[in-house]
Amino acid sequence: MELSSRATVPLDDDVLHVGDPKLLRQDFSRFMLRHRFGMEEVVTKLTILRDEFDLMHDTNPIEHIASRLKSPDSLAEKMRRKGTRPTYASIRETITDIAGVRVTCSFVSDVYRVHDLLTSQDDLTVLDVRDYIAAPKTNGYRSLHTLLEVPVYLSDGPVPVTVEVQLRTIAMDFWASLEHKIHYKYRGAVPDDLAERLCDAADSAHALDARMEALHDEVRHLGEDGVETLPRQVREDLLTGDELVPSEALLEQLRRLATD
Ligand code: GTP
Ligand code: MG
Repeated sequence: MELSSRATVPLDDDVLHVGDPKLLRQDFSRFMLRHRFGMEEVVTKLTILRDEFDLMHDTNPIEHIASRLKSPDSLAEKMRRKGTRPTYASIRETITDIAGVRVTCSFVSDVYRVHDLLTSQDDLTVLDVRDYIAAPKTNGYRSLHTLLEVPVYLSDGPVPVTVEVQLRTIAMDFWASLEHKIHYKYRGAVPDDLAERLCDAADSAHALDARMEALHDEVRHLGEDGVETLPRQVREDLLTGDELVPSEALLEQLRRLATD
């Protein structure tokens, strides 16, 4: 039970026990595990929103949810770059994207909507918001970044975990993944001409987002036959799971209870 006795030691201010490989491995695994749990908490929150939208609404602002834990190699590289001290507290403070979640939406308004729905949840603390949609980076990068602190309930109590959430449209995501590849190929030194064309492409992607949103706005109140409809209450056709659909017998019992 070596692990459980050590589990009571506060990890955050512990030094990295570089002289003791076994202890280093154990502590580091615990540290990463916390981040994985924090990431899973946020993914669950987003999945609940997405599934609820699927069942209860006509449209879904969430297209895709992805998550990743930073690889140890990339963590070590970033620690060098940021001059991180060899303590878990310093890693927590300087490397805030160990747990990363990315949400892709169809429209820019959906990006803000999902952001608001997530960050207004009581158990989350918003540490930082960077709106690279309102103020794009000079290379053309657009996305809404938010840094969240989420409590993870371990056997010895809650620990706060930082999770970086990036929200963007499909067009922004398309651009960012290409830019990332190009950036990587040139090891950061992208030739001016290419960088300029990339920036141009980012503006085109943004213009496309605006046009798609305008089109969407125009037709969103129309039904299949192009006629104005009232919002549907519940997508009953999608409520197929047995546990979600009350049986006739149960409904009858409920009716009787209510009228007794
Ligand atoms: P790091 O860039 O991670 O050192 O942190 P930072 O403090 O500069 O934060 P920032 O909000 O700028 O970026 C965080 C993350 O957003 C990055 O790790 C990328 O995943 C993404 N990102 C930021 N800028 C760009 C960009 O120009 N292109 C692409 N493809 N992704 C970007
Ligand atoms: Mg950066």
